[in-house]
Amino acid sequence: MTLLRIDGLSAAYGPVPALRNVGLSLGEGETLGVVGANGAGKSTLTLAIAGIVRPSSGDIFFDGMSLAGLLPETIARLGVALVPEGRHIFEGLTVEENLLIGLNGAVGRQARRDALERIYDAFPILRQRRTGFGTRLSGGEQQQLAIARALLMNPRLLILDEPSLGLAPIMVDKVYKILRDLRQQGVALLLVEQNPARIAEVADRTVVLANGAVRLSGASADVLSSDLLSRAYLGAEEHEVCA
Ligand SMILES: Nc1ncnc2c1ncn2[C@@H]1O[C@H](COP(=O)(O)OP(=O)(O)OP(=O)(O)O)[C@@H](O)[C@H]1O
Ligand SMILES: [Mg+2]
Repeated sequence: MTLLRIDGLSAAYGPVPALRNVGLSLGEGETLGVVGANGAGKSTLTLAIAGIVRPSSGDIFFDGMSLAGLLPETIARLGVALVPEGRHIFEGLTVEENLLIGLNGAVGRQARRDALERIYDAFPILRQRRTGFGTRLSGGEQQQLAIARALLMNPRLLILDEPSLGLAPIMVDKVYKILRDLRQQGVALLLVEQNPARIAEVADRTVVLANGAVRLSGASADVLSSDLLSRAYLGAEEHEVCA
């Protein structure tokens, strides 16, 4: 069953085109990698799905429903959670307060406690540091906090924009372990990375964006080992599909 389908999506910042006629789909429980150079349009794609950037044309369907014109909070309530580039940990809030932002305010006290406990079981470092400021965590710990906050919304689709950016290899290992676990639990993932080296560990399929357009797509192992990859990164004109 298709969970996310994007057809002919274009977006621009004023006169600057950022996405050109992008099409892709993601099945329930599937993991899709999105890679590409700086400025390729990866973040814009994630922001368009989350309803933060308005497309100039094209359609985005989640679970068969068009997301056109919906507010970001409505899209989040439908089950789409975004861990944005740069993590966005709130200054002046503790780790726990940062987490609680991920929970619907209408949730009762006990349900809130239970949800937090589940998260703390999965992310022990956050339990340990729950009364400290979120911004005092290390980069890798902040990334865990951002992922944990998104998971409190019980998403069906989790979108991660460069979760390994700026992390030491051992922290990247930790984050990728978390992503593999989520994948096993059946959460669909759209995983953006600039450096494609690790994508194949988790992504079933991968698309390569260049200059706002899809240039290469196929099974992750094929895309990442393809001699077309560097050409696609540099912005070859055609969309090629790995067999
Ligand atoms: N707020 C903005 N205002 C104007 N132009 C923008 C804005 N955000 C992005 N752009 C432009 O849109 C294009 C796509 O940017 P985007 O951030 O989506 O790329 P990216 O693939 O995420 O790059 P990176 O790997 O550096 O994060 C780029 O040309 C960029 O300069
Ligand atoms: Mg980006």
